[in-house]
Amino acid sequence: MKRLMMLGPPGAGKGTQAQQLVEAFQIPQISTGDLLRAAKRDGTDLGKLAAPYMDNGRLVPDELVIGMVKERIALPDAKNGYIFDGFPRTRNQSEALDEMGIALDHVISIDVSEPELIRRLEGRRSCKECKAVYHLVFAAPKVAGTCDRCGSSPLLQRPDDMPVKIKQRLVEYAEETEPLIDFYGEKGLLIQIDGEGDPKEVKKRIQSALGT
Ligand code: AP5
Repeated sequence: MKRLMMLGPPGAGKGTQAQQLVEAFQIPQISTGDLLRAAKRDGTDLGKLAAPYMDNGRLVPDELVIGMVKERIALPDAKNGYIFDGFPRTRNQSEALDEMGIALDHVISIDVSEPELIRRLEGRRSCKECKAVYHLVFAAPKVAGTCDRCGSSPLLQRPDDMPVKIKQRLVEYAEETEPLIDFYGEKGLLIQIDGEGDPKEVKKRIQSALGT
């Protein structure tokens, strides 16, 4: 059983690096952002409740996210562990994990400067079909606007990657999530990673810290 958590501000590369760990450990990535976007797209009750928060760059209320995570980790593919990406994001969410009897093995905190976060978020594009993530400059597709993996086009910009929404997400991160760095540091679970530079370099830093 392996339970990892990716912690970091919007655009730090949590999703990008979680994907690498999926291959290394053969356990699923559980991204609360992806799950909420799917719920919103499918028009479920959860999606309808979460949408106004997400559209404004605010955190979705804890009880909605915690319920969603409980259901997700009960699925068979999570029986050997998982990589949380974007969860827990508040003190209440981390306490809910404790109440569920779930102990994390490591919390990987990715550190990136604010100007670089903004560059990454403004240039991010995603495939609407297979959800592959690109960047206009740092991780461009082979053919502009077309997904390398499934051929779909055009690639889309996330509505919360507009400048005004990015600003709000950074505020939410500083107020609600950043304090978890000290919280997990005090528990002895924190691995701090310099997230600047080539994604392959960042991957190496994480692997070396995890001893894989
Ligand atoms: P979520 O989807 O989790 O967004 P986020 O935390 O803001 O994180 P991002 O997905 O924006 O960034 P990332 O760190 O994964 O970076 P990525 O690898 O994509 O959440 C969205 C919303 O859902 C929230 O605002 C909230 O409303 C709600 N929500 C989700 N979880 C919640 C929770 N637990 N509680 C309450 N509400 C919740 O990389 C970004 C870009 O940079 C990409 O283009 C990538 O190609 C590029 N890139 C990556 N690494 C590098 C590198 N080393 N160098 C250059 N470019 C790079």
